[in-house]
Amino acid sequence: MRILVTGGAGFIGSHIVDEYIATGHEVAIVDNLSTGHRDNLNPHARFFEVDIRGEQMAEVFGQFRPEVVNHHAAQKSVPYSVENPLFDADVNLMGLLKLLELSRQHGVQQFIMASSGGALADPGEIPSPETGTPLFLSPYSVAKYASEKYLEFYQITYGMQTLSFRYANVYGPRQTPDGEAGVVAIFTQNILAGRPCKIYALPGMPRGATRDYVYVKDLVAAHGLALTHNVTGVYNVGTGIETDTETLTDHLLTISGRRVPVSIEGARAGDLARSCLDNGKILRDLGWSFTTSVADGLRLTYDWARNL
Ligand SMILES: NC(=O)c1ccc[n+]([C@@H]2O[C@H](COP(=O)([O-])OP(=O)(O)OC[C@H]3O[C@@H](n4cnc5c(N)ncnc54)[C@H](O)[C@@H]3O)[C@@H](O)[C@H]2O)c1
Repeated sequence: MRILVTGGAGFIGSHIVDEYIATGHEVAIVDNLSTGHRDNLNPHARFFEVDIRGEQMAEVFGQFRPEVVNHHAAQKSVPYSVENPLFDADVNLMGLLKLLELSRQHGVQQFIMASSGGALADPGEIPSPETGTPLFLSPYSVAKYASEKYLEFYQITYGMQTLSFRYANVYGPRQTPDGEAGVVAIFTQNILAGRPCKIYALPGMPRGATRDYVYVKDLVAAHGLALTHNVTGVYNVGTGIETDTETLTDHLLTISGRRVPVSIEGARAGDLARSCLDNGKILRDLGWSFTTSVADGLRLTYDWARNL
């Protein structure tokens, strides 16, 4: 199939490109390299250095004629969205809409988007199912939620097969420390540089907040399954397992064999205490489940970072 991956020079998008190429698909990447890197580009994919909001996107669709669009280009920082809601909406909503309109005009069959379980999960129910009520704590959350609804609209109105994957905290090789869920990348770099790791304790949670950490290769497997299953709507992609920050730090220190100071600090404003996704729906409909434990995934990530 001809698959257009936006954000294919970034952390998650580049792994998806690699998987599509390895399984015989024809891939084109659209990326403006704002946070992505040329080194992540798969040499067997066509590369368009273009902004998803730009006029040139019409030419990209015209030249490549994608059958599937996999959308990973985004403004991905939650705090940045709070400071810059207009910019966030420009990229995450207007950018998405421009892609959806081009997809409709060019007869794209399937549109897959990266949504966020961290931003949209109902913290009142752990593990959180897709059906919970999100807390809209940032413009980023609002935009991801609205994006899911736009996909629903294109599905209902134009019959485009649309799918939103709500990711848990994705980690693995190529992740940079500045994203939505960068703690693994931050602590890995701190440990390699001999810098301290700070854990933010929360009331009743002295070991820090819990998160659902999913290894990027497991996430990529869900994208492979999405091409062969006729599913639409919203799906969580997570492990259903909570890991607190101190446990994560202990794993990384053990793997590294190094010692750095670990400090326990007070809670930061806006920190969610717990986040974990129910993966029953994706297991039932796509047969997906994770295969990489946190200990194994962290080892793979640490080994990659050490050899940079
Ligand atoms: N990392 C996580 O744990 C996580 C969790 C939930 C959701 N997500 C979502 O997954 C997607 C990918 O995230 P990531 O962590 O790989 O981030 P990333 O920054 O590594 O990748 C995003 C890519 O999009 C490109 N890009 C940004 N704005 C663009 C624009 N206007 N035009 C063209 N290209 C543009 C960047 O250069 C980059 O290569 C995002 O939608 C993010 O919100 C990530």
